[in-house]
Amino acid sequence: MDKNANQTVVVLDFGGQYKELIARRVRECKVHSQILSGATPIDKLKDIAPIGIILTGGPHSVYEESSPHTVKELFELGIPILGICYGMQLMAYTLGGKVSACKVSEYGTINTTYDDAACALFKGLNTSALTLMSHTDFVDKMPNGFKGAAHTQDCPVAAMYNADKKLYAVQFHPEVERTAQGTQLLHNFLYEICGANGDYSIDDFIQREIVRIREQVGNHQVVLGLSGGVDSSVCAAILEKAIPNQLTCIFVDHGMMRKNEGDEIESVFANKNLNFVRVDAEQRFLTKLDGVSDPERKRKIIGEEFVRVFEEESSKFAGSFLAQGTIYPDVVESGLTTGAVIKSHHNVGGLPKDTKFIGLVEPLRSLFKDEVRELGRKLQLDETLVSRQPFPGPGLAVRCIGEITKEKLDILRDADYIFREELKKANLNYGQFFAVLTNMRTVGVMGDGRTYNYVVGLRAVITSDFMTCEYAHIPYEVLDVVSSRIVNEVQGVSRVVYDITGKPPATIEWE
Ligand code: XMP
Repeated sequence: MDKNANQTVVVLDFGGQYKELIARRVRECKVHSQILSGATPIDKLKDIAPIGIILTGGPHSVYEESSPHTVKELFELGIPILGICYGMQLMAYTLGGKVSACKVSEYGTINTTYDDAACALFKGLNTSALTLMSHTDFVDKMPNGFKGAAHTQDCPVAAMYNADKKLYAVQFHPEVERTAQGTQLLHNFLYEICGANGDYSIDDFIQREIVRIREQVGNHQVVLGLSGGVDSSVCAAILEKAIPNQLTCIFVDHGMMRKNEGDEIESVFANKNLNFVRVDAEQRFLTKLDGVSDPERKRKIIGEEFVRVFEEESSKFAGSFLAQGTIYPDVVESGLTTGAVIKSHHNVGGLPKDTKFIGLVEPLRSLFKDEVRELGRKLQLDETLVSRQPFPGPGLAVRCIGEITKEKLDILRDADYIFREELKKANLNYGQFFAVLTNMRTVGVMGDGRTYNYVVGLRAVITSDFMTCEYAHIPYEVLDVVSSRIVNEVQGVSRVVYDITGKPPATIEWE
């Protein structure tokens, strides 16, 4: 049993990309969750004595020999189980049902009808909902004792259950935002079926993490790369709490910060109870980036240069740890969960071989952005830092398309400042908003003269998890003011465009 005796739900991982999201939804429902491999021995599960088990999705087919499988005993433990996607197919297959290839595979949000009001999973839910589906196999024949509880046009069994054995399964993904009332469904599983009492809070995370950090770090010093963003600031706060006399925060001003940002960060952290060092490295980064336009190379160069600067600055702390505010979406995007690299984040896969640091400390690695904010508030971090919008580690390098020059960065800084200022004046606040400097110049006309200047892109998105987003419907009147101010006040800009793409298919940042 877990030492602080919180109720626990185990998420058994069968290779799906959403396992952390499932764990996070469970935490959101105030239940502690723990992710374990799908191959975890039954005895270990018995020791943990979870109140429920969730089987994740995965990219496999149960009939492939190399696919992760499980044993019948799992379903005989008397512990409530929810199978999701592949987890549902695995439940059906293991218990003697039949899984077949779909005649029509389902991808995307699909209208799903919940047929069985008596099924506890659907308590209080609408009788049909848009759900996220992503499957090429389906449960063709349910195991004995199971009832179908939902269907779609092409999937006759989109949910099944055996109430006596407390076994439930859904073909769709309740954990993603795109499934309507998905969290409510998981809440039903936890509270109606597993008997959760909601005894988990972020305080439990803080306590566990403090113990873990102290165990990992021992008496060594820790050097944190502080960017002033939410992640590294919250990381600093929890480290300060865990190891107050062992922390040095180094703020590397790489010259790619937003307007006035470096000074603002300095003024906040210089007053905190930690060793704060500001390094002015603008020229050094610009030289390294000279002539580079490939976004992944820019990120790599900046990431490596960061480590070099830290190493130099921290040489007086020989054998120290490097701390980073890596959060879970960074881990996903660096391809560590699925192998598909969307973008590489600083050292998320580990330190470079020739590093002088002895290890990485990443206290926020399992958390999502909004959980990091909640953590920051619990740690009584300044609200200005906690509610700050995310800002990529490589800074404006990400938002300055193509080759990076000081001139382009200054144009971007001024345009971005105006955009943010006008949204603030209009009392508009979205998940994230910023300007981008495209690498494209177009013809314009100013006064009587022809101009040939840059196109600035504006991006404002509504999101809570930063893994998906919709674009914000900024009123035209506000866009009008922003556009005319940018073109009039920022030299070098001839045109302003507004990005109306969601994620997916786009990402939040341009690169
Ligand atoms: P994308 O562009 O992938 O961004 O949709 C998702 C979120 O991540 C932020 N982002 C980063 N954050 N280091 C960070 O700490 C990075 O290198 C980085 N790159 C993107 C981005 O601003 C958005 O909020």
